[in-house]
Amino acid sequence: MSLVYLNGQFMRPEQAKISPMDRGFLFGDGIYEVIPSYGGRCVGFTAHIQRLQTGLDALEIHCALTTEDWQQLVQQLIQRNGAGNLGVYLHVSRGADHKRAHAYPKEITPTIFAYTFEIAAEPQAERDKAPRYKVMTATDLRWQRCHIKSTALLGNVMHHQQAAALGLNECILFDEQGFLTEGSSTNVFIVKDAVVITPPLSHKILPGITRQLLLTILREHSSMPVQERAVSKTELLAADEVWLTSSSKEVAAVIEVDGKVIGTGKPGCVWQQAQSLFCRYKYSF
Ligand SMILES: Cc1ncc(COP(=O)(O)O)c(C=O)c1O
Repeated sequence: MSLVYLNGQFMRPEQAKISPMDRGFLFGDGIYEVIPSYGGRCVGFTAHIQRLQTGLDALEIHCALTTEDWQQLVQQLIQRNGAGNLGVYLHVSRGADHKRAHAYPKEITPTIFAYTFEIAAEPQAERDKAPRYKVMTATDLRWQRCHIKSTALLGNVMHHQQAAALGLNECILFDEQGFLTEGSSTNVFIVKDAVVITPPLSHKILPGITRQLLLTILREHSSMPVQERAVSKTELLAADEVWLTSSSKEVAAVIEVDGKVIGTGKPGCVWQQAQSLFCRYKYSF
């Protein structure tokens, strides 16, 4: 039986109730994280909690939990849910007020919710077996604070739906100037002439933990040249390889963008090296 966590207690999902006056429900006024965990081992736990805290600070949500408290909570939740291959969802909203008003209320207790969901086994670096992603592109119509991992995800949801409606896996976004930002739920990398390239951090993209871990791993454990710089759509379409990164996908190979085949139309050699290094070093942070 699965158990969720709500405001200090573990309970069955159907027992977890929040007020309709919760600002998470009314305004999407909250921050969330998703941490992958395999057999009880989390990938990038500290980085995920740091990003959660940065988001809470940006929204001035005062949550009393320390990194150690989160560690305990997450470990308990994982153990109580079988400690298999689990995604751990953490969610802190500003809390429930007695009225709906835009300004942050002074006295308010955050709502803290966490649950786990089953995920696939750890991704491997096998070119023949790896998932192959087909994606579309679109102009990024989200807000100007994409670096905050807010629960207000409608912009991302609408972009993702554009792709889903066409039977595609992801929608890769470009800003008004035609430069790559990210996917609706992923960061994007390209490979050209064996150089690994991804857009730099800014308010236009989420600082993905997989992106961060992958960049560190490639810089510390490979001789692959890595660049963080602007990428145009022309450059992306002419890339030898395109990858999506996220906690659940790790490094995923894209084989088609807007119907155009990328590279050989299969997960590439550089992808294979990058994903094997990721498999090898992802727990060392
Ligand atoms: C918009 C967006 N970009 C990038 C990512 C990848 O982030 P991470 O690697 O931390 O999962 C996500 C993950 O949810 C996302 O929603």
